[in-house]
Amino acid sequence: MRIAIATQPFAHLSAQALVTYAFEQDDPIGDVLAEMDQATGGRLRRLVEARELTGKMLEMTLLHWPPGLAAERLLIVGAGKLEKFTTAELRRVAGAALRYLKNRSLKQLAFLAREDNSDAAAAQAVVEGLLVGDFEPDRYKTEKKNNKAIESVALCGWAASEAEAGLARGRIIGESQNFVRELVNEPSNRLTPRLLAERAEAMTREFGLRCEILDEKQIEDLGMGALLAVARGSDEPPRLIVVTYEPPQMGARAPVLGLVGKAITFDTGGVSIKPAEGMEKMKYDMAGGATMLGVMRAIAQLKPLVKVVAVVPATENMPGGRAQKPGDVQFSLAGKSIEVINTDAEGRLILADGIAYAKRLGATHLVDAATLTGAIVVALSNVNVGVFASQPEFSDRLLASARRAGEKMWLMPLDEEYGEMIKSTIADIQNVGSGKGGGAVTAAMFLKEFAEDTPWIHLDIAGTAWLDEAKPWAAKGATGVALRTLVDLVMNFPAER
Ligand code: BES
Ligand code: ZN
Ligand code: ZN
Repeated sequence: MRIAIATQPFAHLSAQALVTYAFEQDDPIGDVLAEMDQATGGRLRRLVEARELTGKMLEMTLLHWPPGLAAERLLIVGAGKLEKFTTAELRRVAGAALRYLKNRSLKQLAFLAREDNSDAAAAQAVVEGLLVGDFEPDRYKTEKKNNKAIESVALCGWAASEAEAGLARGRIIGESQNFVRELVNEPSNRLTPRLLAERAEAMTREFGLRCEILDEKQIEDLGMGALLAVARGSDEPPRLIVVTYEPPQMGARAPVLGLVGKAITFDTGGVSIKPAEGMEKMKYDMAGGATMLGVMRAIAQLKPLVKVVAVVPATENMPGGRAQKPGDVQFSLAGKSIEVINTDAEGRLILADGIAYAKRLGATHLVDAATLTGAIVVALSNVNVGVFASQPEFSDRLLASARRAGEKMWLMPLDEEYGEMIKSTIADIQNVGSGKGGGAVTAAMFLKEFAEDTPWIHLDIAGTAWLDEAKPWAAKGATGVALRTLVDLVMNFPAER
């Protein structure tokens, strides 16, 4: 999709559809719309009077051959209450408009900014919304639905310099989010740990990042007993993917951010096998790992001042003849022994070794992302990402990034009482909490044991990495959640400790 900046007045823009938006207020016609209302000879005013144009969030009002405009259509999208309007709503407005017009097989669009949303951040949000909205999970369809992809969008109403800055950033971030979605949507037979490693390597070559792939033997020699224990149930060998971004110059006291992502390319549960219903979705159990690769893809282009290392342990979780069994004890890279009560709680095992390895590589701060627990869906449904953090200063930063990125995230507790629930009788720790409830928290407590004193954040994205039903602004399937927040976190990370 081409996105260009147009500087001519909106009335002169030729496009198959010109898109703008209206707020839900006494008079949905503001300044820009007043001009447009005049240009169209009062048609908008009449629609308002007929209650057909109210500004309600994502209401779509489509006018054909609007008089006074060069565009063939005018689409006015409801943007909700002005007081509640942020770049998050703007992003959704842009995405929903694109998908609405795409369904009508239109190809050339123009998007007109409103007076108060014409800075670089607004342009960035619009571009992200457009790119994410245009994505379809149709990779394996041999007949694309009449190829409905949008060809071009002109951005109008911005000063050129603001639009250019926002467009460049929005394109990098939107495309990186779609890179994540493409990986997450892949079925497990087309994205084994080895193939994921190849995809990561190809990405790093394209964007000039350092990449190291550890194979099964290296994983074993290093002593990653927890990752290896999960991998032993499968004929597919595991991989540990390490991607490094280093800024041009770095001080001695510079922090190193470690991003650890769970990449179970398929989770059958192992010997503690999952029920058949819905199991096909467990191909998305590598979303955390894909997210971290997507973040690296974005920052390779955005060039922050901080060093970032992504560590992605990748394996299948299968019930093979050599698979681990409930009750087994494993030794992790950090030296801690783990009693495996349930082989379906495999994510925390591979992350334990991933976190320990990121620390060995010099990480001073850790963030992990994982589709870790069904319990986070019980707690927060499919709405918020669950955030767990060892230090409030760090989670404050992350939550501020989430707000700026327009992603919903909610801080969860980590009281010591939950730590009691993962004490093992025979080993240092067990991989499932005893007692009732709190499954997302005990899982996080398990990870915290491996982060130790290093400032650490855990994002449980099990409820938010996948959409069972399409949203007006996004296709169903992988969402690419947390990428924008993490890119914002990296871009605003202090260069000194
Ligand atoms: N991959 C699952 C978590 C999950 C559940 C992701 C639903 C996406 C949607 C994870 O490995 C798992 O199976 N966790 C178990 C842990 C339990 C055995 C303690 C769970 O949440 O049921
Ligand atoms: Zn599992
Ligand atoms: Zn899993």
